[in-house]
Amino acid sequence: MTAPEHLLEALEPVVAENLDRHLGVAQEWHPHDYVPWSQGRDFAFLGGEDWAPEQSQLSETAKAAMFTNLLTEDNLPSYHREIATRFGRDGAWGTWVGRWTAEENRHGIAMRDYLVVTRGVDPVELERARMDYMTSGYDSGDKTALEAVAYVSFQELATRVSHRNTGKVTNDPIADKMLARISKDENLHMIFYRNIVAAALEIAPDATMQAIAKEVIGFEMPGATMAGFRRSSMIIAKAGIYDLRLHHDEVIMPVLRAWNVFDRTDLGPEGEQAREQLGAFLEALDAQATKFVDRRAENRARVAARDDGVSPDIAS
Ligand SMILES: [Fe+2]
Ligand SMILES: [Fe+2]
Repeated sequence: MTAPEHLLEALEPVVAENLDRHLGVAQEWHPHDYVPWSQGRDFAFLGGEDWAPEQSQLSETAKAAMFTNLLTEDNLPSYHREIATRFGRDGAWGTWVGRWTAEENRHGIAMRDYLVVTRGVDPVELERARMDYMTSGYDSGDKTALEAVAYVSFQELATRVSHRNTGKVTNDPIADKMLARISKDENLHMIFYRNIVAAALEIAPDATMQAIAKEVIGFEMPGATMAGFRRSSMIIAKAGIYDLRLHHDEVIMPVLRAWNVFDRTDLGPEGEQAREQLGAFLEALDAQATKFVDRRAENRARVAARDDGVSPDIAS
């Protein structure tokens, strides 16, 4: 059995193979194609008009989601540092780190151009928030390479779901198309990392299971440290763009199933213990998700009843 510290080398051929597969399926696309440039005009600095809230066609929910998603994409230098220091700059790992970074950069370019041209959000507020968030940076702590690759398997899928569902609430077919395009990239990133973890499970089942359990139990979105994240993530959850139910059903469980986590027979006592902890955590997460969805449905019913002028007691 390969010791975890030699895992990166042991996984190199799998990385090379998946890099080739990725390059074969990833389609070229251009951020400028997704930006309605004809809607653009100068700001006051060049003699035009500065941004005002009434210029935005986006709902408060769409604004909060796009703002959060774009800032998350903006912190790319931090994520690059996170994976470059763990995966290295040599061989297939290094090529992947470069390619992944270049692809991710497209997401921020497309979203920023779209938001500035359509005046979807306040560009001054956006720029100040970017400065703050990038200055403090993102730090995932002392994750090992194995933990990092487990974490990003979930995180890429989480951003896929979040971009996709944000597109739906924008009420703009252009933004929807752009965010669907970005989600496709996130899905391919997820598949790449998921395949690496699947190979790690074969090479070092116990250490990999421990890493998976740790990352699921301690999962946090990379944007969790940005200013106003709690408020924005509440808006995002209320709108069903990203909530505990989606996190459990569409992010965590499909990936765990793809790894055959619950039916594996190759675990030793340490792996087995990690799997049990994971199982207990997932049960609690599922219960919490149900509670959240029930409460949200009650709140929506209450708001609908109030808007209809009916008291909630009579309506229920
Ligand atoms: Fe991205
Ligand atoms: Fe991604």
